[in-house]
Amino acid sequence: MFCIDNKGGFILKTLVIYSSVTGNTEKIVKAAYDEIPFPKKICKSLNKLSLKNYELIIIGYWVDKGICDSRNVEIIKNIHNKKVIFMGTLGAKDNGNYYESIKKRVESFLPEDNKLIDHFLCQGRINEKLIERYKTIFESNPGDENIKRQLENAKIASTHPDNTDLNNVKEFIKNIFKKIEF
Ligand SMILES: Cc1cc2nc3c(=O)[nH]c(=O)nc-3n(C[C@H](O)[C@H](O)[C@H](O)COP(=O)(O)O)c2cc1C
Repeated sequence: MFCIDNKGGFILKTLVIYSSVTGNTEKIVKAAYDEIPFPKKICKSLNKLSLKNYELIIIGYWVDKGICDSRNVEIIKNIHNKKVIFMGTLGAKDNGNYYESIKKRVESFLPEDNKLIDHFLCQGRINEKLIERYKTIFESNPGDENIKRQLENAKIASTHPDNTDLNNVKEFIKNIFKKIEF
């Protein structure tokens, strides 16, 4: 199962699988991918690939109504006996509690025979259609504080993932590969 590098050390075969509708998750996943040592593979679907050939699985997801996108739910539920890293993007700003609750919910789909290595989350630009929906609701109900907050948050989210987020995800991956046990 393990590969051996040219110095006789063990190296992990890594598979990155991700979903991304508007490109935010794709940006962080691709930034992270650059930092992963070979052998590695990146893909958006599992069609012709088998998880069997990899030791480390990295799941890139986007947050859809408080959990990861449904395609990833199905993939995560079917991972067995692997090392697993999660990375995701979401519209909300990091306020600690919300991010932690998302992480817990996503991790709860992972069967217990896996080893969860770490989990990265950062803010991503919100889909224009969703913002238009918020605006329409706000126009007909200008007193709606929740929608007002969503619109303010959408403005903050509009520049993410930014260079700091991309550097953070690169550091996140580099640190993992420094300490991961082969
Ligand atoms: C249908 C839908 C549901 C969403 N649900 C949430 C949510 O529950 N919490 C949140 O913080 N962001 C939510 N978002 C924002 C996305 O998670 C965010 O924009 C993400 O970065 C999109 O990733 P992508 O560009 O890779 O598709 C939602 C977006 C859409 C379109």
